[in-house]
Amino acid sequence: KNELALRAVLESAVDSIISIDEHGIITSYNPAAERMFGYGPKELLGCNVSSLMPSPDRERHDGYLRRYLATGIPRIIGFGREATGQRKDGSTFPIDLSVGEVLYEGRRAFTGIVRDISERKATEHALATSL
Ligand code: HEM
Repeated sequence: KNELALRAVLESAVDSIISIDEHGIITSYNPAAERMFGYGPKELLGCNVSSLMPSPDRERHDGYLRRYLATGIPRIIGFGREATGQRKDGSTFPIDLSVGEVLYEGRRAFTGIVRDISERKATEHALATSL
């Protein structure tokens, strides 16, 4: 019953919800993530989450994870951050990223929530340039 409720939340969410293991490998994602980044339902499984961002973060993301696992000092977990996402077609868009840490089958894992903030950014820009 709980599982059905959880599934409904994941399926209907507007934000992308993406789970990775401690190596940054994608282990699950919801339909919003498919739409937002332009991939099919299973296509991203086993890929590195760095596929979803442009350079220089793409090359550095494994290092970000290693740094966190080694030091335990969070820089995104618990804070959130504005960043840039990259779709399968190579186009980029502004995102609001939050990351949480979970224990999954005795191992460390992470869940990221990605919100596309293109519209908010466009509105902010329009307001700023109309003054
Ligand atoms: C760390 C960027 C997606 C998990 C970081 C950092 C950056 C970053 C810049 C390091 C921050 C710093 O050291 O100052 C991005 C971008 C993403 C993205 C641009 C665009 C899609 C994700 C997703 C997850 C994730 C979807 C989880 C499913 C992590 C973790 C860390 C991290 C666990 C290290 C912990 C921390 O620094 O608090 N990411 N990330 N990232 N990211 Fe990502």
